[in-house]
Amino acid sequence: MKKQLVLAVFSAGCAFAAPVGNDFLLQTKNTSMAFSKQGDSWLMLHYGKRIERAEDARLLANSRYAGSSYLCENKPLTYLTAGSDSYSGGRACTKFAGLSVIHADGTLSSELHDAGAETVRDEAGAEHLTLTLRDPAYPFTVTQHFRAFAAYDIIETWAEIRHEEPAPVKLVQMDSAAFFFPLITKKFYLMTLPGQWGSEGQIEETPVGKGQTVTLDSRSGIRSAMGSNASFMLSLDAPASETSGRVIAGALAWSGAWTIRIQHDQIDGLGLFAGASNPSGPYTLIPGKTLVLPKLVLTTTESGKGQVSRNFHRWARDIQLHEGHAPRPILLNSWEGAYFTFTEKTLTDMMDGTKTLGGEMFVVDDGWFGRGSYARNDATSGLGDWVVNDAKLPHGLAWLADQAKERGLNFGIWVEPEMANTNSALAVAHPDWLLRERTRVLRGGRGGSQVVLDLTNPAVRENVLGQLDAMIASCPGLSYIKWDANSHFQNVGSEYLPRDRQANVWFDYTAGLYDLLARLRAKHPGLQLNACSSGGGRMDYGFLRYATEFWTSDDTDARQRILIQWGASQFYPACAMAAHVTAVPNLQTKRVTPLKFRFDVAMMGRLGFELHPENMTDEDVAFARAAVADYKRIRPIIQQGDLYRLVSPWEANYAALNYVDEKKDRAVAFVYGMTRLIGTDFPEPLRLQGLDPAKRYRVTEFNRVKGNKEHIKGNKKVISGSALMGIGLPIRLQGDFDSIAIELTAENH
Ligand code: GLA
Repeated sequence: MKKQLVLAVFSAGCAFAAPVGNDFLLQTKNTSMAFSKQGDSWLMLHYGKRIERAEDARLLANSRYAGSSYLCENKPLTYLTAGSDSYSGGRACTKFAGLSVIHADGTLSSELHDAGAETVRDEAGAEHLTLTLRDPAYPFTVTQHFRAFAAYDIIETWAEIRHEEPAPVKLVQMDSAAFFFPLITKKFYLMTLPGQWGSEGQIEETPVGKGQTVTLDSRSGIRSAMGSNASFMLSLDAPASETSGRVIAGALAWSGAWTIRIQHDQIDGLGLFAGASNPSGPYTLIPGKTLVLPKLVLTTTESGKGQVSRNFHRWARDIQLHEGHAPRPILLNSWEGAYFTFTEKTLTDMMDGTKTLGGEMFVVDDGWFGRGSYARNDATSGLGDWVVNDAKLPHGLAWLADQAKERGLNFGIWVEPEMANTNSALAVAHPDWLLRERTRVLRGGRGGSQVVLDLTNPAVRENVLGQLDAMIASCPGLSYIKWDANSHFQNVGSEYLPRDRQANVWFDYTAGLYDLLARLRAKHPGLQLNACSSGGGRMDYGFLRYATEFWTSDDTDARQRILIQWGASQFYPACAMAAHVTAVPNLQTKRVTPLKFRFDVAMMGRLGFELHPENMTDEDVAFARAAVADYKRIRPIIQQGDLYRLVSPWEANYAALNYVDEKKDRAVAFVYGMTRLIGTDFPEPLRLQGLDPAKRYRVTEFNRVKGNKEHIKGNKKVISGSALMGIGLPIRLQGDFDSIAIELTAENH
């Protein structure tokens, strides 16, 4: 699909740079970003609803005259730099900026003047605007990029920094984007996704009051999405609903330390700053090296948060995710069913069970590697040694993959390539390959001995890539890797980086990680990759450029997963959201929920299992087989369709959502009851969204428990889209953790 798009674009003959006038509009289907060159500066005068004439944004540019002078208002420069002449009320310099540089001679200010602008239709079909900005006093250049993906109303933006000063410069702040909007409204409401291990993607919405700056930050350099997701939705005027309201939203594609700052200034200007952060001090940039900063992915709409999510989801599937259109397989992962304790027989028994359930892939999680005293039988040893533990698995990986194949299953494996245990052959042979501070005792993480490899060092990356390559070569049947990362940055220091560039470790580690992933991807394009980091710690569009999906959370309790998946769905598509049915009582919360409920919740994303099938009753196996068959039928609607969130679990004691396929011929809805409280919780009619009002749909409740009453009125009837959306389906829930799955299929009459 992606390839076809690219060919179409090139055959249309558009891949030539075009000059850019003094007023320029970057257009998407429903939005515009307006640029205007005034004097030496590039300004961004509008980002919002689509306009048609570039000069209109200049004619309507808002600045506030207060009697004898202008109010001290930031100029809407495309990239706000510290020390620039950026107040419109006369010469004054801004302190709050996205780029803050200490030049080689110690000068603290930067001014960026136009040095050329061009636009090109790029290989992905985007209109790609490039602004080259130069400091008149220094050989210091910033190249700003804006890539507009018209069909999705998405604009990607980032900056590249390069200089030829006589000595290194220090980048105190180096945001990917630093915009300032003069006066678009006086009320701002910020929705973010804070979280923790086991409760990723919680939804928080807060006003950003006059004079306030809200800073979101990663708290870490590896599990970068765990404490807070690198994304935001900013409602203008009033908090947007799912279906209405003006929103500007962004997601930073970065798996390292980051900050996003939203500033509502004293006179109601809006500042938006996002980028990789340098928690240990300025980044030292040597002359002649180009620093490519991560992408900030933006969208804006006047149709509410649901549209924001759909814009991100479609862009992710078509552009960003690896193989975004490939159906994601139903897999069984061994972790919650076996942990570290398994033999070959345990695994082949699990494969038998996977086959019986109708699964399509078997994945061996942690515990298959390391040898001798470094064998990985618990969390204390083995990370770093990616060779099969032949005492535990004497026939090796290729044999296991063959066993899977004999049962009609694909085969996958868990690795944690950025890490080592101090008890590993790798760490013992190469103590200088670990992130560490020379003068301090090494702090061990998980298992007391887990440490992080120094991915700033090319030799370390070469070793890791070599080991992964050898492992993949030794197992021709391997089609899936779960790439885990269970540590924060703990020992912040690099033996590889020079002493005066230690603070670069935060950024260079992540750049090294992406280099490793890009090379692995180039060698093994067909490999499916799951992004895991103690659960949802890698739910970010930086890692997802190389991955096919992410592990949403180690918390697999279906009740809590409703909240976690609701959060993830704000920015990340269902095809990438791994959701597994597990045993009860749940490992993390000890909650017991019905099997149907666990299935209905896991069907919100990429369905899988994480249990030992031999512990299931015959009745449960029969139910699961039918549910898996159902999921295979509806998989294209969920994994490739548009999501409409109907009732939020944060606002009611049940949640509801529906998916609709591209042609609006098929849809699926789920309703998840949580706590039953008689008299207070009669669900409202389920008013579906996104259907074709003119089509008539057969409505069928599926994934039903034998003998239970129907949950919906109108089951098996044919009802028009307009009535399903306008009146809604009457539904009922019958107790705690009751749930409803509904399939809708358009009929030709
Ligand atoms: C992390 C992951 C789990 C599992 C374990 C294995 O916690 O999030 O899914 O893979 O590691 O050690």
